[in-house]
Amino acid sequence: MGKIKNIVLIGFMGVGKGRTARELAERTGKFAVDCDDLIESFSNCKVKNIFAKFGESRFRELEKEVALWLEKHVQNSIISTGGGFLQVPNLEKIGTVVYLHSDFNQILAAIRNHPNSKKKIKKRPLLQNVDAAKDIHSKRLPLYRAAADIEIDVAQKSIAETCDEIVQLLEKKNTKKTSKK
Ligand code: S3P
Repeated sequence: MGKIKNIVLIGFMGVGKGRTARELAERTGKFAVDCDDLIESFSNCKVKNIFAKFGESRFRELEKEVALWLEKHVQNSIISTGGGFLQVPNLEKIGTVVYLHSDFNQILAAIRNHPNSKKKIKKRPLLQNVDAAKDIHSKRLPLYRAAADIEIDVAQKSIAETCDEIVQLLEKKNTKKTSKK
């Protein structure tokens, strides 16, 4: 039997990639794997400190290393990624790419309304300046879309609703593929 494909969740900071991955994993009996967690355990350093001590470029190298490791060693899993992970060259080789979309203002409002908002902002170096973050969001939008096999609009949706939609769209996609054979 061939490798069972992973599902790779991409999207901007704060859209709920980690929570969606954990719920999808629970529903499907797969493992949830988080790229930033892998980077932190490989380097024994928090993302925030990697940025502060070694700069963003070092963090992007670590993302690429993790991406190669995932391609080689991980299958049949739900992978949540950091917002900038889409820059890794082997993204589509890791699995089916699902883009969780929300517009910038909605993302910002959701983060600010979160009971743990201070912590959520503090641990994300690229969320320290709202204008700069907005700019990153608009520059990345076409790139997320180009990288995605599937796009889901997550604004105003619960994690459960997002997961329902992902499962439905993946089933549709797989039926299309089988009927093409
Ligand atoms: C980043 C997003 C973060 C983390 C790092 C850089 C980005 O992950 O990887 O701070 O470039 O958008 P989340 O998307 O989980 O916040």
